Amino acid sequence: MEQPTIIINVAQSLDGYISGHNGKRIQISCNEDMKRVANLRKQCDGVMVGKNTALFDNPNLKSDSSDDRKFRIIIDRELGIPMTHNIYDGSYPTIIITSRTDGKKIKKLSYVNPKEFNMPSIMQALYDFGIRKVLVEGGAMTIISILRSCRVDQFFVYVGPVIMGSGGVRLFSVHGEREIKFLQIKLIGNGALFQIDISSLEGL
Ligand SMILES: NC(=O)c1ccc[n+]([C@@H]2O[C@H](COP(=O)([O-])OP(=O)(O)OC[C@H]3O[C@@H](n4cnc5c(N)ncnc54)[C@H](OP(=O)(O)O)[C@@H]3O)[C@@H](O)[C@H]2O)c1
Repeated sequence: MEQPTIIINVAQSLDGYISGHNGKRIQISCNEDMKRVANLRKQCDGVMVGKNTALFDNPNLKSDSSDDRKFRIIIDRELGIPMTHNIYDGSYPTIIITSRTDGKKIKKLSYVNPKEFNMPSIMQALYDFGIRKVLVEGGAMTIISILRSCRVDQFFVYVGPVIMGSGGVRLFSVHGEREIKFLQIKLIGNGALFQIDISSLEGL
């Protein structure tokens, strides 16, 4: 199967959470790190998130690149995200990955139907659409299912100076300990960026 180059980037608290209590969005990245992420967005054809992230965070997922062939990409199998959310504001090219074929036609919006509703098929559908490099920004379910079923090229985790306590969304909810390897560790602003060696995540 073909797929775009996949880069994953996510920010987590020191205790391993990517969101606050009940999925509440908490600022984890500092300004310097947000500049790094903006730069990653510029290098990619699209920024992708799962349905829960679009629902809870209502992100705009835009790149400030002048290239107008950039997309925001949202997985929403049953089109459950309300039309009042930012992804439907018509202000930016947007791809909704869905199993439904009755999507409402909105300017600048494309509905893409993968053959099967799993990550390899979703990535193949994006490749067929013309996406050659995708930045996956979350949430945990989306990231973990991509790590388990697709070839990931780069995986960055920024750890910010915050402890969430319990009740949020954890990035990793695996059972038992496992050793992983870092390709790079870099201090950025008041946090640290880890580039994870994908091969050390095999069998996640
Ligand atoms: N700190 C950060 O950098 C960061 C970044 C992004 C998000 N977040 C946080 O992450 C939280 C949401 O994470 P989450 O893990 O709950 O949800 P998520 O990954 O955003 O979305 C999960 C949903 O996406 C769809 N999906 C994902 N993978 C799929 C697959 N392989 N096949 C089919 N459908 C798939 C499913 O929708 P259906 O249920 O419709 O099938 C699934 O329920 C939010 O609270 C947000 O604040 C944090």
